[in-house]
Amino acid sequence: MGQVHIHEGASSGDRPPVQPPETMAALRVHEFGLPPREDRLPIPDVGPSDVLVRLVASVVSHHDLTVAGGEFAVRPTLPYTPGLEGSGRVVRIGSAVDPDSFAVGAPVRVYGGGLGAIRSGTWAEYVVAPERAVTPIPGGLDFAAAAACGSVAATAWAAVTDLGGLLATERLGVTGASGAVGSLVLQLAGQQGVESRVGWVRSPGRVDRLPQGVEAVANDDPVAPVDLLVDTVGGPLLAKRLDAVRPGGRAVLVGYTAGERVCFSLPNLMAADVSLLPLNMMRRRVPKEVASSLLAMFADGRLHVAVELVQRRDIAEAIGRLRSATASGRVVFKW
Ligand SMILES: NC(=O)c1ccc[n+]([C@@H]2O[C@H](COP(=O)([O-])OP(=O)(O)OC[C@H]3O[C@@H](n4cnc5c(N)ncnc54)[C@H](OP(=O)(O)O)[C@@H]3O)[C@@H](O)[C@H]2O)c1
Repeated sequence: MGQVHIHEGASSGDRPPVQPPETMAALRVHEFGLPPREDRLPIPDVGPSDVLVRLVASVVSHHDLTVAGGEFAVRPTLPYTPGLEGSGRVVRIGSAVDPDSFAVGAPVRVYGGGLGAIRSGTWAEYVVAPERAVTPIPGGLDFAAAAACGSVAATAWAAVTDLGGLLATERLGVTGASGAVGSLVLQLAGQQGVESRVGWVRSPGRVDRLPQGVEAVANDDPVAPVDLLVDTVGGPLLAKRLDAVRPGGRAVLVGYTAGERVCFSLPNLMAADVSLLPLNMMRRRVPKEVASSLLAMFADGRLHVAVELVQRRDIAEAIGRLRSATASGRVVFKW
């Protein structure tokens, strides 16, 4: 093990032992495109700027499936442990980590920092995360919800604020509005005083996932033009949705649940003069204070994300539901 501080402090019941066991369970991908297998591995070493976390809840995200498909720009060396995000309790901190920020036993959310792509991720009992990827969980938020809201809330914030530059006086349109990212884009915009919001929903049974005050539309419904489109579905639907953006407007490209490829008429795109803004959360840093304030908004109920809790042994089925967009919320499993 690397040099570590052990710092006592946090209270409460299910704290992990200060000395973790020698080995842990980990779900690892041995072959791209196939479900993970459960292995036993040594507890990972803690580097100077790292935090060792005993996971309570781990998330299966679209990003994990993209990486595990083996055709993404980042191809981990096999076998590897996926998992972009999760939540749990601090076990150890590296020598350069401020002990006042992360007390042993404190509940934390881990997200980003290359987890599940360029370093071992959260589909394991323990994870070593860089300090910048660890955020304390405020009171009132349970482990599953804290794990589930990480990447999707950060993505929504970046789409609305950082990249989209949405103004309160503008009109917002969101595709995949019943999905985790789409719903949070609409919720955050509402929190920022944006009144004119429209959400495209494919499955009528999921309209109730849209926040209050949002105009729900089906794919072929006519809509008044929007200033900013946040597209979470991609594919051929993206080309169609661009027609709903006013000339000179912007489109933030977030996802591709409806397809990875799209074909545009370049002359028409140029005539419409819509700026296409791809969002890459692997390159974008979410400031610590933004991550903390988003978590606080989930804790006090201003933001909400649907969660589907699954058993670890059922992860292959859950992966299938996420791929076919039939999961009933963010897929979370517990340790
Ligand atoms: N760029 C980045 O850095 C970044 C970061 C985070 C997420 N993402 C991407 O964002 C996308 C959305 O993520 P999420 O967590 O919100 O997913 P999600 O919760 O699983 O929601 C998926 C959404 O896609 C819709 N959908 C699926 N197939 C569709 C189709 N054929 N036609 C129309 N709508 C369809 C679903 O509509 P219904 O519910 O109405 O059926 C649902 O609203 C994913 O592709 C993810 O990889 C990208």
